[in-house]
Amino acid sequence: MKSFIVIAVDGGAASGKSSTSRAVASRQNLLHVDTGAHYRTVSLALLRAGLTPADAAKVPAALAGIAPSTVVEGRAARLAMGGELPADAQIRTPEVNAAVSQFAAIPEVRKFLFDYQRDQVREARERGFDGLIMEGRDIGSVILPDADLRLFLEADLVARAARRAAEGQADAVAERDRRDATRAAAPMVCPTGATRIDNTHLSLEQVVDLICGMVDTKRAAARV
Ligand code: CDP
Ligand code: CDP
Repeated sequence: MKSFIVIAVDGGAASGKSSTSRAVASRQNLLHVDTGAHYRTVSLALLRAGLTPADAAKVPAALAGIAPSTVVEGRAARLAMGGELPADAQIRTPEVNAAVSQFAAIPEVRKFLFDYQRDQVREARERGFDGLIMEGRDIGSVILPDADLRLFLEADLVARAARRAAEGQADAVAERDRRDATRAAAPMVCPTGATRIDNTHLSLEQVVDLICGMVDTKRAAARV
């Protein structure tokens, strides 16, 4: 039997977290949890409730009425709010891009997601996956500090902005990174002891090969 492996992936905007985690999940049969999508989904719910990031005091009441749940599609775990699963396009609009980092800096928003995100490990086990790969900004530092592998993806800012532009997305990558790295609540950091992977000049496949090699080494060590 394969040992169950937990992988934490952090990094700045457009550093390759989602595409890399999705591909590693596919090769290793892991549940893939994109926590950035969680913050986007919560932001969408708050925007729809008529709130802006300036309305922090109204956030707890707005969130109290919305129960989170998980929908698994293939190997991707998605957050539904009040039973509604928003489409990917709905959580990647310029409006959500502009507000998400500000909502994510509100401690009550992070508290709302903390237990839900940790519980995804149980979700992965119960659904028979061989592990879990969770990506975000505070996964190796706050959500899963005991993960078997903690990775921090990096790519230079010019490459990251070009990647987003190539996707046709309006997104202020540098501005979001600045907010995420300087907020008081669970700021983006490369956790102590995490492995940095600079993929500015690496293809997606090269990064996935590298990580899968690390997974195989961990699994081999767990067997002896
Ligand atoms: O994929 P991209 O780099 O555009 O960002 P994302 O992963 O979708 O995350 C959107 C935003 O959610 C980030 O800019 C952070 O403000 C926030 N976030 C966070 O605060 N903590 C996480 N664990 C994940 C995302
Ligand atoms: O999730 P995050 O915002 O960190 O990044 P992503 O959405 O996975 O990747 C942003 C873009 O960079 C996508 O279009 C990827 O195909 C591309 N990418 C790349 O060119 N080279 C890599 N090694 C990883 C991602």
